[in-house]
Amino acid sequence: MPAVDLRSDTVTRPTPAMRQAMATAEVGDDVYGDDPTVVALEARGAELIGTEAALFVPSGTMANQIALRSLTRPGEEVVIGKDGHCWLHESGALAALAGAQTQQLPGDGRFTAADLRAAYKGDVAWLSPTTVVAVENTHNMGGGLVWDRGQLAEVLATARELGMATHLDGARLWNAAVATGCTERELAAGFDTVSVCLSKGLGAPVGSLVCSSRDRIARCRRYRKMYGGGMRQAGILAAAGLHALEHHRGRLGDDHGNARWLAEQLVARGLKVDLARVQTNIVMIEVDAPTEPMIAAARAGGVLIGSAGPRRLRLVTHLDVDRAGCERAVGVIVDAAGARA
Ligand SMILES: Cc1ncc(COP(=O)(O)O)c(C=O)c1O
Repeated sequence: MPAVDLRSDTVTRPTPAMRQAMATAEVGDDVYGDDPTVVALEARGAELIGTEAALFVPSGTMANQIALRSLTRPGEEVVIGKDGHCWLHESGALAALAGAQTQQLPGDGRFTAADLRAAYKGDVAWLSPTTVVAVENTHNMGGGLVWDRGQLAEVLATARELGMATHLDGARLWNAAVATGCTERELAAGFDTVSVCLSKGLGAPVGSLVCSSRDRIARCRRYRKMYGGGMRQAGILAAAGLHALEHHRGRLGDDHGNARWLAEQLVARGLKVDLARVQTNIVMIEVDAPTEPMIAAARAGGVLIGSAGPRRLRLVTHLDVDRAGCERAVGVIVDAAGARA
């Protein structure tokens, strides 16, 4: 029996229909801009996010890095919510490649306009001026948390007032849209740049989009080349992304339902999960012993889970895990973690 893999929503494999779309994709050389499937994906992405243009890139990391590179100059500061992906999980690329200084804001990944104002440093010769704020929605390390729209509007208004540019890491913006009942376009409104992933909940094997104005995307195209992300017959990959956008957005509610069910079952069996924070497809379990032995025990029982800190386990539901898989996982996880949670 295959393992139930709850480590991440990045572990999905392309469905037969997606593979078919990939196999029959029309392709060209995208560095020359003449791959029709990439062009179609970029147009569809821009339409969904509500921007003039979009750029197909290999990963969410590259999407964030290119977008933020386009918004900063070396020596400037990017402020980021606690444990934001572009701060914690991108190998220091903002420092190494953009030459940017970073500052984390207080909170659970989300933050307030007052936090932003307190962190802001102006254009004084001896300071690193705060020129960009990066928001993550949903917030991965916060446990798939969704931003409150009013709070987000205040953050965007404050950033504008302070003359800061704004970036949205919307790797899981699709999940935020389902959770709030808003469109992706509504949730992305007001940001200068938006990155979205096709290879998480949407189930494509590879790929993300940077969405922004036409002029900025032209500059991002240059950075993509600089960062080594100019791909050639990328239409094979873009076809998977297009298929995901058309066929897999509508089912994300199933993943959210499975995550909630899983969380409730674990709580009922004595594990520590803050149910108020299970808002999308991620479940965080707080434990009071090192996670590694628990992860190993679950693996031995055929369930793959991850850690999100020394005392925190992370479970993520997705396209390749159904309710039966979640049912199987509950017992194994309780056995692996329960005795010590
Ligand atoms: C919020 C967020 N942004 C960006 C990324 C980066 O995506 P990738 O793994 O495609 O580089 C991830 C990956 O998990 C993520 O969770």
